[in-house]
Amino acid sequence: MKLLVIGSGGREHALAWKLNQSPRVRKVYVAPGNAGTALEPGLENIPFTALSDLVVFAQKENIALTIVGPESPLADGIVDIFRTAGLKIFGPTKKAAQLEASKIFSKTFMQRHGIPTAAYASFDNPSEAHHYIEQKEAPIIIKANGLAAGKGVVIATTRAEAHEAIDTMLIENKLGEAGTQILVEDYLEGEEASFIVMSDGRNVLPLATSQDHKRLLDNDQGPNTGGMGAYSPAQIISPTLHAKIMREIITPTIQGMARDGELYTGFLYAGLMITPQGEVKVLEFNCRMGDPETQPIMLRLKTDLAILLEHAVNQTLDKVEIEWDRRTALGVVMAAEGYPGVPRKNDVITGLTEIMTNQTSPDEFHIFHSGTVLGDQDKNEILTAGGRVLCVTALGENIKLAHHRAYDIASRIHFEGCQMRHDIGHKGMENYDR
Ligand code: AMP
Ligand code: GLY
Repeated sequence: MKLLVIGSGGREHALAWKLNQSPRVRKVYVAPGNAGTALEPGLENIPFTALSDLVVFAQKENIALTIVGPESPLADGIVDIFRTAGLKIFGPTKKAAQLEASKIFSKTFMQRHGIPTAAYASFDNPSEAHHYIEQKEAPIIIKANGLAAGKGVVIATTRAEAHEAIDTMLIENKLGEAGTQILVEDYLEGEEASFIVMSDGRNVLPLATSQDHKRLLDNDQGPNTGGMGAYSPAQIISPTLHAKIMREIITPTIQGMARDGELYTGFLYAGLMITPQGEVKVLEFNCRMGDPETQPIMLRLKTDLAILLEHAVNQTLDKVEIEWDRRTALGVVMAAEGYPGVPRKNDVITGLTEIMTNQTSPDEFHIFHSGTVLGDQDKNEILTAGGRVLCVTALGENIKLAHHRAYDIASRIHFEGCQMRHDIGHKGMENYDR
């Protein structure tokens, strides 16, 4: 069968790479993809992203199943459009995708169904928001209601910063439509983990746990990013905690959506805060896989992903088992200068070909591309083309060995202005050593 993956990041490279390993899959198209998906045998990029073009393409090519990587096509209703056209697609409907696309929708949903999350209030009136802040102690969290490409959350360490964030969103309109309503949320302390599941609307299949590193710099310093590295499994999620998350968060969410009349189909990503008291609260829901969490998760997945997805769209996820490599996978993101602001582009990336031709253990790592494009093909050039450029992902017997292997490979790759964290997995090593 032929499959279509929508998106252009490291997450989509990892999904398409994994799907392509299935003996049932003849071809995986990626729309629009990147240099990594262009060069991967068995994958083919298609150069358009408009939903109407994608539907026509899927019909013409007889695509058996489409998998959506990023949130915006989901929020725009790609699943509804494909289904109406009689095409199989894995993802939530436009209405269900509001769990990510509207933080107010997500918060009221959690309140209604008793799902633990931070206390909050929502505002569209700046003076009411300012007044509310005066009764709160810092740190205070200010969030834009809508999708803001990772720029919608401000962790204000003083009331003055909180007031400023309110004005930026509600008065200056810096985030446009996404910031016309805001949430003011209580600050939660603890350690974050990413808990991602597949849902067919009624049955849920949890994927391996993982931990992201959101801040740009080592020791969780600097601005928030889309994620600078991730590893799987997240040792902080013990079997007991896993059961608690399923019982208190995931099951009530899937059942709650069904009760509200909108079956949740697709990947569901719960960004969790695990408090020092062992309580778990939802920071946010995403209606897709995480990036870069997908990269280590796919490296550990032993089950045929195409089979899992077929069960998911046929509503038989209860009939399938999932198997993981017991080793740890760790991915380190190499980002362009300027990221998470405006990234520098068009720099030549060196080292990739040498690594691929000299590799002795190809199953133990993979270099997933994000913001890359093909350059001069006579010179086999690959150029930077976005904020996050590559995610070097490796397996190891334990987290330390996975860390060493990923960093050893990353040290052989170069491009001008590359930024990367050096401590991906350190928190996990502390948990591991406990
Ligand atoms: P979100 O997009 O809602 O996940 O927020 C982005 C990041 O902001 C999270 O990954 C956390 O690091 C941080 N954050 C969000 N909400 C809170 C909260 N209530 N308390 C502490 N940190 C938060
Ligand atoms: N890595 C965080 C996200 O995908 O939202």
